[in-house]
Amino acid sequence: MRAVLAHGPFAAGIIDRFVAGPTDADAVAATARLADLGLRASVDLLGEGVTRPDDALATVLAYLRLLDLADRAGIAAGLDVSVKLSALGQAVPRDGRKLSYENAAEVCARAAAVNATVTVDMEDHTTTDATLDTVVELRRDFPSVGAVLQAQLLRTEGDCRDLARAGSRVRLCKGAYREPADIVHRGRPSVRAAYARCLGILLAGPGYPMIATHDPALIGVAGRLAAELRRAPTTYEYQLLHGVRPGEQRRLAAGGATVRVYLPYGPDSVPYLTRRLVEKPANLLLAVRALGGR
Ligand code: FDA
Repeated sequence: MRAVLAHGPFAAGIIDRFVAGPTDADAVAATARLADLGLRASVDLLGEGVTRPDDALATVLAYLRLLDLADRAGIAAGLDVSVKLSALGQAVPRDGRKLSYENAAEVCARAAAVNATVTVDMEDHTTTDATLDTVVELRRDFPSVGAVLQAQLLRTEGDCRDLARAGSRVRLCKGAYREPADIVHRGRPSVRAAYARCLGILLAGPGYPMIATHDPALIGVAGRLAAELRRAPTTYEYQLLHGVRPGEQRRLAAGGATVRVYLPYGPDSVPYLTRRLVEKPANLLLAVRALGGR
């Protein structure tokens, strides 16, 4: 009942599969379980599109509590947290951009204090420039801050060239947002081809690529490119979502790869779960079965 109340249309089965749980203690416990399997985590507090400064502050405080809890549990070192600038105030009228920068800097400072890192998620195309600019500003004080690029956007090969620099951490994903047709590669094969080209640029550069996909073809391309370019497994990592292809997560880690699982937590899971269902409508079946108690 808790799940139905807190998560609207989503049943407990689907929430449990994709989300660590509603609390920071759930996120820390799930991170420890992943560590036992040889998997790292990037923990994400669910929530986005905040329009009031108080709500943005609540996001900051929640991340600070999470990092402190992870530190007390002895699992903060090497942990990554994923933050959405829209949850940190980017869309607040007037000074949203400045507010989200200041709030993100506060999270970065606490992360640095406990030897954790921060990756700034990428949201829809209306925020791409502002988000990349904010990452550049954050990196002046916190050089390990990671950026995310979306291969479906036509602009992204250029962004990969700009960001393929020493010290830069770049997560490459396909892109989860429905965007205007004139700014994206059309159709799955061309998005996949664009992803492979972006991967080539990032892996050939001196930065730290974070290969965020479940696509078997692209995981194969990444492995072959990394071998050709003689990249040590410590110089790049695979990233997959919690609950998606868990067998593949363990297979990659067992083969010596660095693997990080994107681990969402918090009560506000509807937008996140909606994106996962759009990507993979078969998950609806899981939701329906869970509702029926099977
Ligand atoms: P694709 O969708 O083609 O899936 C390939 C295969 O993976 C499927 O055939 C299926 O087997 C499996 N699979 C994929 N999605 C599944 C699902 N939901 N349930 C079950 N199986 C599934 N996007 C964004 O816009 N901004 C961001 O900051 C991020 N961050 C991010 C971090 C990490 C670690 C990952 C893995 C992904 C993101 N994304 C993201 C989401 C990303 O843009 C994309 O929408 C999804 O990863 C789905 O694309 P794939 O490359 O996995 O391939």
